[in-house]
Amino acid sequence: MRKLIVGNWKMNGWGDEWCALAADIALQAQKVNAELVVCPPFVGLRDVEKVLSANGSHVALGAQDVHHKKSGAYTGDVSVMMLKDAKCRYVIVGHSERRAAHKETDAQIAAKACLVVEYGMRPIVCVGETEHGSLEATVKTLKAQLAASLEGVNVTRGADLVVAYEPVWAIGSGKTPKLDDIGQVMAALREMVKSHFADDDMAGKTVRLLYGGSVKAANAADILNLPEVAGVLVGGASLQADQFLGIAASLQNKA
Ligand code: PGA
Repeated sequence: MRKLIVGNWKMNGWGDEWCALAADIALQAQKVNAELVVCPPFVGLRDVEKVLSANGSHVALGAQDVHHKKSGAYTGDVSVMMLKDAKCRYVIVGHSERRAAHKETDAQIAAKACLVVEYGMRPIVCVGETEHGSLEATVKTLKAQLAASLEGVNVTRGADLVVAYEPVWAIGSGKTPKLDDIGQVMAALREMVKSHFADDDMAGKTVRLLYGGSVKAANAADILNLPEVAGVLVGGASLQADQFLGIAASLQNKA
C-alpha cells in the first residue's frame, strides 16, 4: 500500500500563499508514489480544493479539526457537515495543540472521530506523550489516551481510520525518538488498535498508523521503512512544496 503523507499547515500563510503551495504540490504530486493530503486552515479549504482539482491532482484535502457536535450555537466553530461540503476527505482530530490550547478531552475527540466516520470522511486521531520518558511510560499513556479517544469509533474498512503517534516533545522541536523506540511504540499501538477492534480482526490489522513530530526529507525514509508505519503527519516541513514532496520521494530515492 502507498504511504500516506499528510501536511498540516496549522495557522500559517494566507490565501494566495496557500493556493501557490497547493499548486506546487499538485504539479509535483505525480512524480511520487504516495498518497498525499494537505490540511490548510478552514478558510483556505475551498480555494485549495479548487486549485487541487484544477490541476487534476490526486492530492486529497483534509481539515485540521472539527467540532464535536453536529450543529448549533457554537460561535466560531466548524461542523462536520461543513467539512464534507468543502470536499474534505480527512479530518485531524485530537492534535496535541488542540488538546493543550483548547483543553480538548478524549471524550470530545472520540465524538469528533465518530462524526467524521458517520459523514464518510477519515479521521486522523492523534495521540502522544507529553514528556520524553521511558518506553513503558509512553505505552501506558498511549493505551489510556487511545482507548478513550477511540471510544465508540467504528469503521467497516480499517483504511478509513488513521491513528497518528505524535510525541508532543518532538513536534516542532527538531527532536525525534530513536528509530527503535518509534518501532516499538508503533508495534504497541497496533496491538491497542487490534484490541479496540477485537470483533473485526481485519479492521484491527489495517487501520493506518502514522508517525508525526519533526519529520523532514532527511529522516523520513528511515521512519517510513519501519514496520507498521503507514505514513507520516508533517507540520513545518509541509509548508514548502519541495520539502513536503521530498518526504514522499525519500523512499524512492533510498530504494
Ligand atoms: P512538525 O509538526 O512536523 O512541525 O514537528 C508535526 C505536527 O504537529 O503534526
